[in-house]
Amino acid sequence: MTLVAPAHLRLARHARLREQLRGAGLDALLITSLPNVAYLSGLFASAAAVVVTRDRFTLITDGRYLGIAQGLVADMPGVELVITPATIAFDQALAEALCVIGNGRAGFESAHFTVKRFGDLQARLTKLAPGCELEGSEGLVERLRILKDEWELEVFSEAAARLSDAAKCIIPKALAGMREREVAAVIEAELRRVGFDKPAFDTIVASGPNSAVPHYRAGDRVLTAGDLVVLDFGGVFRGYAVDLTRTITVGPASARQRRLLEDIAAAQDAGFAMVREGQPATDIDRGTRESMTAAGLGDAFGHGTGHGLGLEVHERPRIAQFRAELVGEPLQPGMVFTIEPGAYFPDWGGARIEDDAALTTSGAIWLTDVPRFWTH
Ligand code: GLY
Ligand code: MN
Ligand code: MN
Repeated sequence: MTLVAPAHLRLARHARLREQLRGAGLDALLITSLPNVAYLSGLFASAAAVVVTRDRFTLITDGRYLGIAQGLVADMPGVELVITPATIAFDQALAEALCVIGNGRAGFESAHFTVKRFGDLQARLTKLAPGCELEGSEGLVERLRILKDEWELEVFSEAAARLSDAAKCIIPKALAGMREREVAAVIEAELRRVGFDKPAFDTIVASGPNSAVPHYRAGDRVLTAGDLVVLDFGGVFRGYAVDLTRTITVGPASARQRRLLEDIAAAQDAGFAMVREGQPATDIDRGTRESMTAAGLGDAFGHGTGHGLGLEVHERPRIAQFRAELVGEPLQPGMVFTIEPGAYFPDWGGARIEDDAALTTSGAIWLTDVPRFWTH
């Protein structure tokens, strides 16, 4: 598997983005979200941008990425590379790439461009192309990222298999007497060992009463017999994030703990059963939530059921409760997302079970494959 998406797939993304530009009536789009830049160009950089017009594609970065960027554009015919010299402001290069449209409409990504940068770019553009209008746009690249192409689906299968293997090795190592942060260190070392470039987020090891805090991280508490322990971890592979949670018991599970874990697992299955092409993504949440509510856990399930995965760990589709702005997200082949119900009881503890799923042209599949019940 190649390290970045093959050039023909990156070029196909450019073509789909140009359709979005036409739909939005834009002559150009400035892309400053770094995951969006990576998606379109293959370049993962801390300083980079893309300017797309109806007939040009310019990747802008600085000298630190020269060799990598040259390699990436070499097999994308027509793509220009601008390496900004240290003597000019990075945003001057953006203005110069945008001003080629003359009297036209140039979009920028409102969610990824500060007010300060906007004012500065506006001033630079006014000097270069006074008739060029800058306007905010939203989600034009993110919309494309929701549907994974064949290379991305291969990456997800591989990443989820590695995460599953890592989980089976890691989970038995979370033992009574260890501090939460020691367990987190074991998890993160194993993620690197099996090929992940970095953790996808701050690893969660939440033991005993801490397990009632859904996004606790990992502190100094020592894992103790009788605890529920939420282990939530993920890694970044070829730029893509995968995400998994298991809740273990330290020592035999009490009847209440076992029942809680079984009810959550059943709710996860109920959500997965809703994964069908054309079904609104919110139906996965509905299926999961109805199952949790029937088990008496509805009030303790205080978060959404899941989220899309991709170049960011939380992206579309939102697998959350129905809200007016989420209606228009029907499930389609190529979507990859988590299903992660949980229930939390302050002072007693909580549990969550999270797996990664995909909708493919032949139906819904689980990507991760790890036993759901663990007792140490
Ligand atoms: N650990 C982040 C999440 O599960 O969404
Ligand atoms: Mn998650
Ligand atoms: Mn997670």
